[in-house]
Amino acid sequence: MKLDLELLCGAGGAEVRGLDLSKPLAPETLTALRRALADHCVLLFRDQKLEPDSQKAFARQFGPLAETPFIKPLEGHPEMMRVVREPDEKKKLNFGGRWHSDLTFQVEPVLGTVLYSRESPAVGGDTLWTNQMLAFDALSPGMQRMLESLTVMHSAKRSYGPQGTYADDDLKGMRINASELALKETPHPCVRTHPENGRKILFINWVYAIRFQDMTEEESTPLLEFLNRHSQRPEFQIRFRWTKGALAFWDNRSTQHLAVNDYAGYRRVMDRVTIAGDKPFFTPA
Ligand code: SIN
Repeated sequence: MKLDLELLCGAGGAEVRGLDLSKPLAPETLTALRRALADHCVLLFRDQKLEPDSQKAFARQFGPLAETPFIKPLEGHPEMMRVVREPDEKKKLNFGGRWHSDLTFQVEPVLGTVLYSRESPAVGGDTLWTNQMLAFDALSPGMQRMLESLTVMHSAKRSYGPQGTYADDDLKGMRINASELALKETPHPCVRTHPENGRKILFINWVYAIRFQDMTEEESTPLLEFLNRHSQRPEFQIRFRWTKGALAFWDNRSTQHLAVNDYAGYRRVMDRVTIAGDKPFFTPA
């Protein structure tokens, strides 16, 4: 089965044409989409007409849905979150406004995220991703070997802990519940193997990767800062301009993403569901 694809950026991203996501997809189409997701990191679909149930049904074709802790779900849809920013919001940091991969503080971080635009700003509010397979490939062999031996501790504490960014939440459209539960730390390999294409992925991010195992945060910060800066280089980036009815499906295993906060005066409303993933692993070559 050949998909009608238009590649978006050198680093990845592919716009898929000719599919109506509100209807069940044929098994061969799903296989082709799974393959394209692993290869291109982000699949984009425009002009879809979805409601929460049909968006969830689309995502479920790729695996069971995962729930997002610390954030109040959409009424009647425990697996769905509505990401809203109102035109008059003054808070400098928007939701998703720092580079991250979704839910890496969990033992089994999500495989992918499906984000659907219900309302888009006339200008601004793009989403950016970075391809972390390319980020790994671009490191020197010495750095790659060292990172392959390291484990990184991930935690939600900087966002959702009692002193976290969202503890004094005033993101108007969303309800975030900061909690001591966010202090828990979970180990993941610093370099993970993609379970579908076998490529190596640099698996860190600003928000949740807080230190190397058996090292303090202070000791870990210089190398993590270097890796975070490296992982965001423009040549690894993919950028998508939203329109109402557009949908992005990204591979959360091999990407980081960021919601650009440049649309003061406009409303932006997105519905988000995530697909359950597996425990990250590293297979030496
Ligand atoms: C998120 O980080 O899940 C939100 C991304 C976006 O709103 O563009």
